[in-house]
Amino acid sequence: MPLENPQEMEGVLEIDIDRVANSRLPKTELKDIPFGRVFTDHMFIADCKKGEWENLRIIPFGHVPISPASPALHYGQTIFEGMKAYWGQNGDTLVFRPHDNWNRLNISAQRMALAKVPSEIFMKGLAALLNIDRAWIPTGPASSLYIRPFLFSADEYIGIRPSQNFTFMIITSPAGAYYAAPLRVKIETHYTRAVAGGTGFAKAAGNYGGAIYPSKLAQDQGYHQLLWTDAKKHAYIEESGTMNVMFVFEDTLVTPPLSDSILAGITRDSVLALARHWRWKVEERKISVKELISGIMKGTVKEAFGVGTAATIARIQCIGWEGKDYLLQNAEEKGLAGKIYDELEGIKRGILPDPFNWVVSM
Ligand SMILES: Cc1ncc(COP(=O)(O)O)c(C=O)c1O
Repeated sequence: MPLENPQEMEGVLEIDIDRVANSRLPKTELKDIPFGRVFTDHMFIADCKKGEWENLRIIPFGHVPISPASPALHYGQTIFEGMKAYWGQNGDTLVFRPHDNWNRLNISAQRMALAKVPSEIFMKGLAALLNIDRAWIPTGPASSLYIRPFLFSADEYIGIRPSQNFTFMIITSPAGAYYAAPLRVKIETHYTRAVAGGTGFAKAAGNYGGAIYPSKLAQDQGYHQLLWTDAKKHAYIEESGTMNVMFVFEDTLVTPPLSDSILAGITRDSVLALARHWRWKVEERKISVKELISGIMKGTVKEAFGVGTAATIARIQCIGWEGKDYLLQNAEEKGLAGKIYDELEGIKRGILPDPFNWVVSM
């Protein structure tokens, strides 16, 4: 059975550690490092066999054996998470809201019929990995150590049925800023990312795999990202490729409400909590494409920005729709997006007070 009780887990929680003989860090340039290409020296792995978690280990980063008959490869039975670690002011390692990522991993796991990962395994594995590889955390202003936990079926069976064996892993990657300049996004009115009753609310691999082709078409037209719309009519804004989206209509921060076709972003939740804490007007409501475009044309849409762990707070300067580009007038100014960015970065790095107890020192 999945173990949730720390006492039952005492033996299970021991982590075998196999350190690299020579770190790659001295030969790695951490300044302005591109997102997602460089990985730290080690990785964490745990196996779940017929309901029992076992064999927790940290080993050198490298290829993992996977059966060619794994349902992860054939049916996309794999999910992931994304979070970040920073240097704290006292040289400690700070992680932003890891319990929320653990919780969302298990929401995704349930939807994809994967075993849930006990919090003790997630947290202990993460802490042990950060302890070994913390020297890889970059120090630059927009830099951090991106953390990628993921979980997949480790069965050897090509029939379709719930799997019985799973692998949970964590890899980490030093990263600089995801987007350097304000974004150009295109409202997608043909392809669909997620439908009601589907897997859009889960961080399931297939949601992302299916988005690559439409995103590439938009990139070929000079956009950075898509703004997805509802599957039925393409009339309402949902979210962006790896970010939730927010708009400032006059003096109100507005974002689409959560649903089963939108990922419940932890950054989204943090921004809404901060905005409410600051007593801003906040609305979680449907935003039609027509309302958005006419608001940009009339000048009542003051700001548009994406919010996500990798992209942080990414200002949008141009929204394309049906072959025409609509420009946000103040995209270069700091605005509410800039204020939120500064506050969140300050909290994450332990520079500003953390009234919500979001930051965990590991
Ligand atoms: C589809 C999608 N929406 C939104 C987000 C933002 O979520 P979070 O703020 O938890 O990173 C992400 C990134 O994880 C995402 O992949």
